[in-house]
Amino acid sequence: MRRHRGALALIAAMTGAGTLLSACGSSNQTSTTPSSSSSSSSASGTITWSASPIAQIGIRAALVKAFEARYPKIKINLVSAPTNTDSNRAQLLTQLSAGSSSPDVFMGDVIWPAQFAAHGLVLPLSKHLPSSYWKRFAPGLVAGASYKGQVYASPLYADQGFLYYRKDLLAKAHLPVPRTWEQLMSESQTLQKDHLVTYGFVWQGASYEGLTCDFMEYLADAGGSPVNKSYTTPTINSPAAIKALGFMRSLITSGVSPQAVSTFQEPQAMATFDSGKAAFLRNWDYAWSNSQTPANSSVVGKVGVAPLPTFAGQSYPGYSTIGGWNLYVNPHSKNLAADLTFVKWSSSTQAQTILGKTYSEIPTVESVRQALAKDPTTPPPLRVASGTRLIPRPSGTANYPKLSSAIYANVNAALSGSVSDSQALATASHQMKSALSGGL
Ligand code: GLC
Repeated sequence: MRRHRGALALIAAMTGAGTLLSACGSSNQTSTTPSSSSSSSSASGTITWSASPIAQIGIRAALVKAFEARYPKIKINLVSAPTNTDSNRAQLLTQLSAGSSSPDVFMGDVIWPAQFAAHGLVLPLSKHLPSSYWKRFAPGLVAGASYKGQVYASPLYADQGFLYYRKDLLAKAHLPVPRTWEQLMSESQTLQKDHLVTYGFVWQGASYEGLTCDFMEYLADAGGSPVNKSYTTPTINSPAAIKALGFMRSLITSGVSPQAVSTFQEPQAMATFDSGKAAFLRNWDYAWSNSQTPANSSVVGKVGVAPLPTFAGQSYPGYSTIGGWNLYVNPHSKNLAADLTFVKWSSSTQAQTILGKTYSEIPTVESVRQALAKDPTTPPPLRVASGTRLIPRPSGTANYPKLSSAIYANVNAALSGSVSDSQALATASHQMKSALSGGL
């Protein structure tokens, strides 16, 4: 990621992570001597790991198998979590706030640290893993996993948005890979008019976190942002947001995207593209592996990957929302030594290479990410990622879920035609203001 540095500065700016990190050195909460539980090589027993399926391609089982082979005294009991990040979080919040000791370890979204940490529902891992442990990750990832001077999660893999396209259809119609959103729209219409494909473009338009991710990309491309840097004022009721939302809605009204896209999460968008019904797909890195798995896909060998387009007149490429998943530890777990062994292993070269090479997930460990980005046999998203621009969500506040639902619920209402774009943004702004009044 050549421009990652810029993106990291942006993360720091938007999440206040710079402040949080500098607080880290001076905070009296920070233990400089990790507890003895970090010497975990002799750990044993069974631990429960909650993780969502990610895509239908067996990532979790592959990780469990490799870990158990490396640490035969520890068994992992995999518990399947919901695919939708919001339902996954709600389920965990219920369990953890009731004081349950299960799951021991959970795979959680990169947007969760502030909320879980503020409510004491996750173990501060920086109290158990030495500062040398965190140096393997890009600093922005550690900043994103931090809250008030402690690091709460170990980055497992990074996600970002990509444009997947049908190489064969573009070749047939002599069309280039689109670099602007306007071009994507007109190319889609050409392909549809020529009866080469049913839909132009599929993406995530349902009322859930994934829609906040998609909206953030158009908003950043249009030069806007959802809240100010100090998290005091919503900035979503803006000409840039009107442009972003207007374009998203025009994808539907023009028939380039099906009306049903306003109910699509990642699995429905991927299934539509993988069945050959759409020319373009916006999705995360793992969608590559999914599209190249014959059991799930009829477009194996016909798919190209590119950075996301931007609006005409802006510099290419467009922005990609920063996503990804971390490993978190339950503070009530009864087997911390085994938990930490698993967490540490998840950032080993072996685990990170499995995630990158076999499942097209972007490694969080810098040395592995850089090695795979240069390897011509690596899945394309990992190589394309080097030239992209990243945009974080404003998740540095414990109230992020409310901020985000104000975005996605109102954007979705406009997409489904029940309110105008300007009404949707005015309501979003109003709801965000009340979420922000809760402070960081
Ligand atoms: C992906 C991203 C995650 C995001 C989610 C939205 O799983 O990694 O960060 O919140 O999609 O659906």
